[in-house]
Amino acid sequence: MNMEQIEKIIDETLQGKPLVMDCKSKNSKKLFIESYGCQMNMNDSEIVASILAEQGFNTTQNLEDADLVLVNTCSIREKAEQTVRKRLEKYNAVKKINPTMKVGVLGCMAERLKEKFLEEEKIVDLVVGPDAYRDLPNLLEEIDAGRDAVNVILSKDETYGDVSPVRLNNNGVSAFVSITRGCDNMCTFCVVPFTRGRERSRDPQSILEEIRTMHQQNFKEITLLGQNVDSYLWYGGGLKKDYKNASEIAKETAVGFAELLDLAATKFPKMRFRFSTSNPQDMSLDVIHVMAKHKNICKYLHLPVQSGSTKMLKAMNRQHTREEYIQLIDNVLKIVPEMSLSQDMIIGFCGETEEDHQDTLSLMRYVKYDYGYMFSYSERPGTLAAKKMADDVPEEVKKRRLAEVIQLQREHSLLRTQQHLGKTEEFLIEGISKKSDLHFKARNSQNTVVVFPKEQYKIGDFVNVKIEDCTSATLIGTAVGYSDNN
Ligand code: SAH
Ligand code: F3S
Repeated sequence: MNMEQIEKIIDETLQGKPLVMDCKSKNSKKLFIESYGCQMNMNDSEIVASILAEQGFNTTQNLEDADLVLVNTCSIREKAEQTVRKRLEKYNAVKKINPTMKVGVLGCMAERLKEKFLEEEKIVDLVVGPDAYRDLPNLLEEIDAGRDAVNVILSKDETYGDVSPVRLNNNGVSAFVSITRGCDNMCTFCVVPFTRGRERSRDPQSILEEIRTMHQQNFKEITLLGQNVDSYLWYGGGLKKDYKNASEIAKETAVGFAELLDLAATKFPKMRFRFSTSNPQDMSLDVIHVMAKHKNICKYLHLPVQSGSTKMLKAMNRQHTREEYIQLIDNVLKIVPEMSLSQDMIIGFCGETEEDHQDTLSLMRYVKYDYGYMFSYSERPGTLAAKKMADDVPEEVKKRRLAEVIQLQREHSLLRTQQHLGKTEEFLIEGISKKSDLHFKARNSQNTVVVFPKEQYKIGDFVNVKIEDCTSATLIGTAVGYSDNN
């Protein structure tokens, strides 16, 4: 896309109708909705709340009061599924007091288990996969008529682009905006391609309109969400894998992730942007150049690697080697030296030897990530790894290796937080500190959290904070004034 086309999208967006959030004060039915798992699930629940607001539902924080209880579920590891099963037991207890309450399961577990859910969990009335939320009004009619209701059909074009999410549990400062759905990468350990379907991107115009609405409502920070944001590609709709058959015109006017990010940051200079998640194999340096160009794109990159061993990466079907990943990190830091980096690691994947584990530790020592999300491998039914590979690392070995990885990450996190000591940096105030009512918690561009005395500031302000102390997770400081971003 050339600059003229980008300008045209910006202009059209400005003329677009605002996505006004309709406050349904006359709604009488009560929806209790909770989400487990990724940020995408949180955002999907906001979409569901919006669809059900049209059906007369207001959300409630009180489970006992609910007419309808929905749980948005995660299948990424077995433990995540067990957590949901436990929750269903709680609903069961509440249903004894409130027998007319209906219970629905949304998200990845719904997609994975389908009708089986109804057999396995008697409490469940409704099973709805991630692409079927628009069908909720019909499904509710089914259960009102005393029938079970299941819709787990995956779609090739659903992006909920026209649904204005009802912001749940929000701090009025930061919000999520989904830009892609599904994943085509087929990492051998991962259930996501099966539960969320094929990859498709959302119309950039509807993304910018949603951001504009958030801007009008005084939100200050947007996180663009996708399983694989770097592979964002809008060419008029349809699956990413069908792009090769698109018309020449569609190809010429296609918008990639770097352009989308550039558009958003240019159009809304007072808002801060983040994105998640990147996959190293789809990450292009164009994105890093766009990050370098805009002050309002946070200098934080979550770049999951899963293992430091090329042999393991191959077994996982990650399309890069250890060396290529290191090269990518080096290039990123050449363009944005202050970039903070975080990882996801899977410990004890099929066939992982002590040498592979050492490769993971040495990669971590090379990068010295600011943060990390580390878990033992959990075999997921239906994945290639479950079908073809032996989950052969003993549980106690996984545990020991995981403890080593977590310990090393803690050391690196401390090293990273210590680098902020004595500096004065800009932070966005997100809320009150969990530990003290007298302190705010705020985040800098690199995603590091600071706590500091409240003084005259308020939630949503950009402030300059002098960093005086730190732990491995948190900075401690004092505000020295408003930043020029307010
Ligand atoms: N799209 C992202 C990952 C999304 S899933 C990427 O490109 O990597 C989020 C994280 O869950 C993954 O990064 C991985 O570390 C973890 N994960 C996924 N499947 C897992 C499994 N079977 N066992 C343990 N962790 C898993
Ligand atoms: Fe899963 Fe790999 Fe996609 S981790 S979400 S299949 S990039």
